[in-house]
Amino acid sequence: MPANFKAELVGCFGQPVAENPTGVMQEAAFAAAALNWRYLTIEVAPDKLRDAVQAVRAFGMRGINLTIPHKVAVMKHLDAVAPDAALIGAVNTVRVDPDGRLIGENTDGKGFLRGATTIGGLNPKDCFAVVLGAGGAARAIVAELALAGAAKILVVNRSVERGQNLVSDLAAKTGARIEFEPWRGTFAVPGAADLLVNATSIGLFPDVTSMPPVDFSGAGTWLLVSDVVFNPPETPFLAAASRKGLRTLDGLSMLVFQGVIGFKLWTGVDPDESVMRQALRRALGV
Ligand SMILES: NC(=O)c1ccc[n+]([C@@H]2O[C@H](COP(=O)([O-])OP(=O)(O)OC[C@H]3O[C@@H](n4cnc5c(N)ncnc54)[C@H](OP(=O)(O)O)[C@@H]3O)[C@@H](O)[C@H]2O)c1
Repeated sequence: MPANFKAELVGCFGQPVAENPTGVMQEAAFAAAALNWRYLTIEVAPDKLRDAVQAVRAFGMRGINLTIPHKVAVMKHLDAVAPDAALIGAVNTVRVDPDGRLIGENTDGKGFLRGATTIGGLNPKDCFAVVLGAGGAARAIVAELALAGAAKILVVNRSVERGQNLVSDLAAKTGARIEFEPWRGTFAVPGAADLLVNATSIGLFPDVTSMPPVDFSGAGTWLLVSDVVFNPPETPFLAAASRKGLRTLDGLSMLVFQGVIGFKLWTGVDPDESVMRQALRRALGV
């Protein structure tokens, strides 16, 4: 067989991007699958995004991740956007279809749901989910919960306008029962809730001692408590839930599974999830 020294390229565009750990877990999975693929973590300024997407085409790259501030802006440079990414209104993963077209996908909410079902044991169909926050991460999670058939989704957010906009938009587009409650003081977890997600940035480094003001005393014993904050993964919010005897799911899970789904979209093969998780933990020192 002739030698083949050509690597397939994927990567991530963001600004800032230097602390984004995704490349470490994807490269570990490529090595474990014996794939000659490289993941490049690339700083792209907003006014260079169009050129950067042209470079994806010019280099014949196999895909790209987008992070802050490109998740929305990238959409106008793509050939098509998958229906759920269009519903979320943001793209975190681009794949290349067999005709060479760049297709926008969003794996954030799907990654969350994969972790909640496979590790957390949640059945999203007919569940009652409470989502704290109404930013990009919350929107992706609410959209995927709605598409998965949740019976009721309650969005709780400090900014009333932001929360109401998310709820009215996604309720109208999915037909799901999605309600809004303004976050004032301590939020009391409803006894019927099956899932509680902190989708705010409270607890994110360097603010590692903060936690969302939540009263778990009325929670059912079956409640799954989850956090999107992954650095550090052991947040005070999850620690408080554990002390109440509740099951928890950390933010590493969402990050790993969005990468697992992205890997499959790009390569067509399932990666070794445990290899990705270990690489990520090592990279983050957690
Ligand atoms: N694990 C993963 O794979 C993954 C993926 C994506 C994002 N994330 C994490 O998700 C978190 C949110 O990201 P995002 O992109 O959704 O951010 P975002 O769009 O800026 O939204 C931030 C949200 O947090 C709320 N918030 C922030 N500080 C608050 C405070 N002190 N009290 C009450 N609410 C507060 C905001 O409420 P207002 O609307 O009232 O301002 C808003 O709802 C970040 O920590 C990010 O690292 C994790």
